[in-house]
Amino acid sequence: MKIISVQNNKGGVGKSVSVGFISQLLAYLDKRVLVVDLDPQSNLTMMLGAFIEDSDDVIDGIATSPVKNISDLFIGRYAIKEDVESCIHDTIIENIKIIPSSPRHANTLSILHQDNKMGNINIILKKALATVKDDYDYILIDSAPTIDALTTNSLYCSDLVLTPVEDSDFSLKGLRETIRLIQKTKEQYGLDMTFGGAFLTRSERNTNSFKIFNNKYHSQLGEYMLNTSISKDVKVKEISSMCVPILSYCPNTSSVIDYSKLIIELHILDDDAQQELINCITE
Ligand SMILES: Nc1ncnc2c1ncn2[C@@H]1O[C@H](COP(=O)(O)OP(=O)(O)OP(=O)(O)O)[C@@H](O)[C@H]1O
Ligand SMILES: [Mg+2]
Repeated sequence: MKIISVQNNKGGVGKSVSVGFISQLLAYLDKRVLVVDLDPQSNLTMMLGAFIEDSDDVIDGIATSPVKNISDLFIGRYAIKEDVESCIHDTIIENIKIIPSSPRHANTLSILHQDNKMGNINIILKKALATVKDDYDYILIDSAPTIDALTTNSLYCSDLVLTPVEDSDFSLKGLRETIRLIQKTKEQYGLDMTFGGAFLTRSERNTNSFKIFNNKYHSQLGEYMLNTSISKDVKVKEISSMCVPILSYCPNTSSVIDYSKLIIELHILDDDAQQELINCITE
């Protein structure tokens, strides 16, 4: 069982799309996958067809909802399997379950800070996932573009952290800060987590600008950069907005091939699944 989180405090770099693609490829390989959406924007939840509107009712300052989601898990500090399972829902993909998000999750941290229950706020997610992790082969966590206690929660429970980046000077600066934050959190709390690397997304590999930035990223960040980059692919927007299973909609599109290569490069699969994925992209 591996817990993988995708982090970058810069917005719009492809975090949610990366979790969407990687989780669907793992599910295709017959792995049992749980995805966790920590972002109130709920893009991943929508992409996987699991979005449920919050209701208009507010009780004791807390928004209500017809179903439980990540906000309830944090506010209730769920650490019993039955409670955590009440936040896990089906998606459009059979092998993928989700702890979804919704806009009310934007208030989760302020509600948690107000409540006077004792306990480390940084380990709520780790405690919750510990109760269900034996039911899955992979847990993937998508984060909001922020640095806060939710970020620390995801770092706390991750075995592996990945960072998608765009090819620009601003992103390079942001990436250095993100890597520094990850390393600092790891040392500060003595976490057993590995930074798996950064990878370029929305790449136009035949342009000069890509070649220049790719060289710059690799020479400045060395081992922190993965070799695989994800190409810019018009199908990505279609998939995200239509909430269709990627592998039935466009199994051979360039982004599917690239995310497959990324998974292969990460060596997160058992030998049989690794070989199956290699065969898929070389056929
Ligand atoms: N490989 C790609 N090719 C083309 N478009 C892409 C690709 N990857 C992501 N996008 C598009 O870029 C936008 C941002 O992607 P995404 O939502 O995954 O970023 P994010 O890092 O999760 O953003 P946020 O920080 O706001 O949560 C989306 O419109 C998505 O469809
Ligand atoms: Mg996102």
